[in-house]
Amino acid sequence: MRIMVVGGGGREHAIISKLKESEKVTEIFALPGNGAIAQDATCVNIGAKDIEGITKFALENKIDFAVVAPDDPLVLGAVDSLHSVGIPCFGPESKAAIIEGSKIFSKDMMKEFNIPTAEYETFSDMDKALDYLETCEIPVVIKADGLALGKGVIIAETREAAKNAVVEMMQDKVFGDSGSNIVIEEFLTGPEVSVLSFTDGNVVVPMISSMDHKRVGDGDTGLNTGGMGTVAPNPYYTEKVANRCMEEIFLPTIKAMNTLGRTFKGCLYFGLMITEKGPKVIEYNCRFGDPETQVVLPLLKTDLFEIMQAVENGTLADINVEFKDECACCVVMASKGYPQKYETGFEITYDEDLEAKVFVAGAKSEGDRLYTAGGRVLGVVMTAPTLDEAVKLAYSESEKVHFENAYKRNDIGKRALAVLEDK
Ligand code: AMP
Ligand code: GLY
Repeated sequence: MRIMVVGGGGREHAIISKLKESEKVTEIFALPGNGAIAQDATCVNIGAKDIEGITKFALENKIDFAVVAPDDPLVLGAVDSLHSVGIPCFGPESKAAIIEGSKIFSKDMMKEFNIPTAEYETFSDMDKALDYLETCEIPVVIKADGLALGKGVIIAETREAAKNAVVEMMQDKVFGDSGSNIVIEEFLTGPEVSVLSFTDGNVVVPMISSMDHKRVGDGDTGLNTGGMGTVAPNPYYTEKVANRCMEEIFLPTIKAMNTLGRTFKGCLYFGLMITEKGPKVIEYNCRFGDPETQVVLPLLKTDLFEIMQAVENGTLADINVEFKDECACCVVMASKGYPQKYETGFEITYDEDLEAKVFVAGAKSEGDRLYTAGGRVLGVVMTAPTLDEAVKLAYSESEKVHFENAYKRNDIGKRALAVLEDK
């Protein structure tokens, strides 16, 4: 089978590494991929948002199956376009990708179908939004309706900050049209859990749970990033919580999407907060999470390609999706200064005795050499029978990966380990 994977970050590197393990997969193309993915797949210089280019490439190169990984092409209709020319895909069509593409859509859906989430109001008029802020409780959360590179969520600690956020989104258009409409919602507290799931619209199969570390600094301080590291499983996601999530969130979401004529097929990501009143949805993503995928897929025992085919064919119920009874840790190595200003172009080298899987997000190759080309450069991943071992190993292996101005957090997994110790 000739497979095409759309995207070019650490998540796509992890997906491609897993697909390579399948006996059915003979060739993989990555659009656009990156300098490191080029060692595992044929990279083609077509951007992930170039729907026409992606479709043309798939047809001309007799692609048997396409995996569309990032949110942008999914929301823009890459899967619709590929389906229209007869190419099977893993990923939702745009009418289902709206679950991530529009926060107003997903909030209204949750309200209509009684899926637990933060209380909210939506606004298309700035003055009304500002009036509302006069009375609401603080802190309050302001969200741009559309995709905003993961930056469209502002947690305002003061009324003043909340008003500024609304003006920036709705008047100054810092997120472009994504901020023309906004959601203002209740601030929730509690530990967060990421649950990626496979669904074919009939059944939903949660993958092993994970914990992201979004802030740039140790102790969850500093600016929000695309993710500085992950661990799996997430100790807050107990069996009891998992059962509640299945009954109150996962199944109702799949059913709601079917009822609305927006059947979701692909990876549906549930961003959950475990509040005192039970698990609530913080956000849905219409795709694999990054860097959650980097710890989840290495623990998957079942053939990923067979699962993806079953999702597309609506036969997921026939597959026994199994995970290893192990733990995983991903330590992200970023460019110093990220998520603000940083330099790139430094050579990346690995010690010969490196055992970790390294999933590369931002790198360019020149001949045999690899150079940094982004803020988040790569993730060093280790699996082990216990979380303690996985974390220690990921950190010791990260010492074998070198580039100038590298920055990493020193406490990935620390909170998860503390929870395990308390149990
Ligand atoms: P992002 O990944 O940019 O969408 O960031 C979303 C993050 O904002 C979540 O991971 C939460 O930490 C936080 N967040 C979003 N909505 C709420 C809420 N209603 N209450 C508290 N925190 C929230
Ligand atoms: N790690 C969060 C996301 O993929 O959106």
